[in-house]
Amino acid sequence: MQIQLTINGERKTLEVTPGTTLLAALRGEGYHGVKHGCDTGECGACTVILNGEPVTSCNLLAVQADGATVETVEGLEQNGRLHALQERFAANGAVQCGFCTPGMLMVAKALLDKNPNPTEAEVRTALAGTMCRCTGYVKPVAAVLQAAADLAGAESEAHHEAQAAAQAGYKVVGHSVRKVDASKLVTGKATFVDDIELRGMLHARLLMSPHAHARIRRIDATRARALPGVHCVLTHEDVPRVTFTTAGQSWPEPSPHDSRSLDDKVRFVGDRVAAVAAETPEIAEQALRLIEVDYEILPAIFDPEAALAPGAPIIHDEKDCDGIGGYDAAKNVAASIEVGVGDMARGFAEADVVLERTYRVPQVQQTPIETHIAIAWLDEDSRLVMRTSTQVPFHVRRIIAPVLGLRPGQIRVIKPRIGGGFGVKQEILIEDIVGHLALRTHRPVRLELSREEEFMASRSRHPQIIRMKMGVKRDGTLTANEMVLVANTGGYGSHALTVQTNTGSKALPIYRCPNIHFKATTVYTNLPPAGAFRGYGGPQGFFALESHMDELAGAIGMDPLAFRLKNCLQTGDTNPLAKALGEGREGFEQKIESCGLPECAEFGRQAIGWDERQATAPTEGPKRRGLGVAFAMHGTAIPGLDMGAASLKMNDDGTFNLLVGATDLGTGADTVLAQMAAEVLGCEVSDIIIYSSDTDFTPFDVGAYASSTTYISGGAVVKAAEDVAGQIREVAARMLEAAPEELDLRDRKVFAPGGRSVTLGDVALNSLHVVDQKQIMAVASKISYDSPPPFAVTFAEVEVDTETGQVDVKKLVMAVDAGQIVNPATAMGQVEGGMVQALGYAVAEEMRYDDAGRMWGPNFRDYRVILADETPEIVAHLVHTNDPFGPFGVKALAEIPLDGVAPAVANAVFAATGVRVAEIPLTPERVWRALAGKEKE
Ligand code: FES
Repeated sequence: MQIQLTINGERKTLEVTPGTTLLAALRGEGYHGVKHGCDTGECGACTVILNGEPVTSCNLLAVQADGATVETVEGLEQNGRLHALQERFAANGAVQCGFCTPGMLMVAKALLDKNPNPTEAEVRTALAGTMCRCTGYVKPVAAVLQAAADLAGAESEAHHEAQAAAQAGYKVVGHSVRKVDASKLVTGKATFVDDIELRGMLHARLLMSPHAHARIRRIDATRARALPGVHCVLTHEDVPRVTFTTAGQSWPEPSPHDSRSLDDKVRFVGDRVAAVAAETPEIAEQALRLIEVDYEILPAIFDPEAALAPGAPIIHDEKDCDGIGGYDAAKNVAASIEVGVGDMARGFAEADVVLERTYRVPQVQQTPIETHIAIAWLDEDSRLVMRTSTQVPFHVRRIIAPVLGLRPGQIRVIKPRIGGGFGVKQEILIEDIVGHLALRTHRPVRLELSREEEFMASRSRHPQIIRMKMGVKRDGTLTANEMVLVANTGGYGSHALTVQTNTGSKALPIYRCPNIHFKATTVYTNLPPAGAFRGYGGPQGFFALESHMDELAGAIGMDPLAFRLKNCLQTGDTNPLAKALGEGREGFEQKIESCGLPECAEFGRQAIGWDERQATAPTEGPKRRGLGVAFAMHGTAIPGLDMGAASLKMNDDGTFNLLVGATDLGTGADTVLAQMAAEVLGCEVSDIIIYSSDTDFTPFDVGAYASSTTYISGGAVVKAAEDVAGQIREVAARMLEAAPEELDLRDRKVFAPGGRSVTLGDVALNSLHVVDQKQIMAVASKISYDSPPPFAVTFAEVEVDTETGQVDVKKLVMAVDAGQIVNPATAMGQVEGGMVQALGYAVAEEMRYDDAGRMWGPNFRDYRVILADETPEIVAHLVHTNDPFGPFGVKALAEIPLDGVAPAVANAVFAATGVRVAEIPLTPERVWRALAGKEKE
């Protein structure tokens, strides 16, 4: 049927079916700025303005909009000029991955159309309809208020954080330059995986297991294959049995090899049973219902401690799986590790106080607003091309090649913009399936997980049960520090060893202690699998450690902040566990060359009013206020393992192509890498044409994880740029008749002593066309055996309703030492966004299951992500230290904001109520039960 719409002022006739959503109709018409995030209108990524009102287009039928006026993000830009909202979002760092941005812009446009001068509360209420998993809403809210002022013609306050001008002499590094991809993201240009149209594309769907543990006795796809429009149905009988790990890590992968594309056994509700490729998503869906499966239901187990008990059902009883690091599938152990230093018995004996307590942290989901999506096709040379939303394009290529019966060189993986990752896209979850289907059908095949499937069948943060036992002397000296944990990895062991290793290696060494013991056991159960999630074991470990440190401080009557400062690492110390806890292999000795913990603590102490807290703690009635603090340490890349490379080529006009395999998740990595190159080459960021990443064209990089990009990939960029700068000097020296070492690159020119100069364009033309012609270019690689840790101190102020258990977080302060900062605006965005994500971990987010292992509410209505109108006052601060190892003195930043919020909030709840809640999230029910002395539900 036909409908009429006026879209961005243009009258259009659209062909739709009765079931076509407005979202599908608009995207089908080429309005790719309208994004798909959930199907139920809860994430708001698909928001458009319909007859003047913001509506979510995913849950509105196109026929319902017949005759309407529709505004999409593509209509905001007028005559090549960005709308004030777009300009402010782009200029002020309000865009990270940018997947939520079009929806946010449309909500904000609708608000300003009606209310040109909104308050911050009104902006937050409006933006609450669009989820952002990246920014923490601080900059989007500020951008809307500034745009309102711009539209009113008022002077608005410049919104750049203090520049990291401490880096004297740097022209580009240390400045909040606009993200290189900001303009295309605020205008809704086709930049994401799904924003392409391929002729003859088929749509894939997955049949997922309804059972937590079952063997497939018989599977019959005859009726599905016979359905008109179905091109391929795959079951375990149709694909080779190749065992691999879905964890995208360096070779040899430290995670167990325990997965197959399709198997004759299912191990959690949501596990893959079959795959279909058909002409339309609807036909594919129909075909799934025609596949007949006879399951032998097996006993399922969900509790990790029960799964370790003798006689427990064995999840991986097949012969063709294997692993390292204590892997013992016959006992449901996916990984285990035990390390220590000193003498624990002596450490406890020397203590005046020994405290022991068990902490529990939940399974939570990364929930990028863009779910997993991949499109695969065969190119003109019959090579498999894959456009996928991944953090690890090179690992994807290497890992799926044997699964598909190909060599890596027969596969090309393209990573366009990614709509958020947070670790869940360090997994190979759908690429093998689209690869199989494209190879069988010789047609392009698209597979996208629905939001429900993303919850049920992607990955999550490992839930852990952590027993802490620590000893301390009355003067506050730690004598023993022990952490023993059991982690639940679900049906597959993705990152089973390394996440848990990280829990110990990041948390325990932050405090000087001669006797440390760490033991971790990662257990298979029949829950949806865990994997990598921003923080990678740190959030779990610091919740336990920092809660316990508070208990110890209370036990010896010491101020919790002073107690931490007395014991924390200092510059010149070594990390006693770094060598023992490597990434699936022995690590490297790590000396701390910079530590900003005292400065971070001092900033936060003042910002939260720590010294005045006793005066404000009790309030009238059932409400109680309290302050809490937590320290955190993280790592910068995986030493001796992470490697990145960069290729830099000079063009005729003095611009440069910078090709990196690094994977910008929206964090601003491309911008930061371009800044580093521009600094070395003496040009503008706009002269650096950066491209990431494509396994055919960009050099290898492990990808975006372990907080490695600025440090490792940035190191490669700087090396390549220094090489290119040297070549430029040689050519310019010839032109200027000077010695190369006398020349200075700045302002897009090369200067000789006395002020004579040639432009970079002159140098390029001379080199390419005039004398001793050659292409000025370089490739460089970077690996580091040092992993300088960033540090952070978090403070929380809470108000607890002792009658209901409601925890109202009033204020969060986080000061981070991430070394030198390349781009303060993007760095602050990382911290603010991380704080809000971590707040969800502290008080709201939790994956819960029924007795059959089915997740309760796999949607954004039941799984609570913090919204714009729920965030407390956020104060983020960057402390600058100068570490000798990284380029320009940088350290990592992306993950550490996840570590300290939950313990700071729990410690504040303790300060307010005197009750220790040792399990998160701190939901009203859980806190109320703790207050009532009923610890366990
Ligand atoms: Fe909002 Fe990524 S910028 S979800």
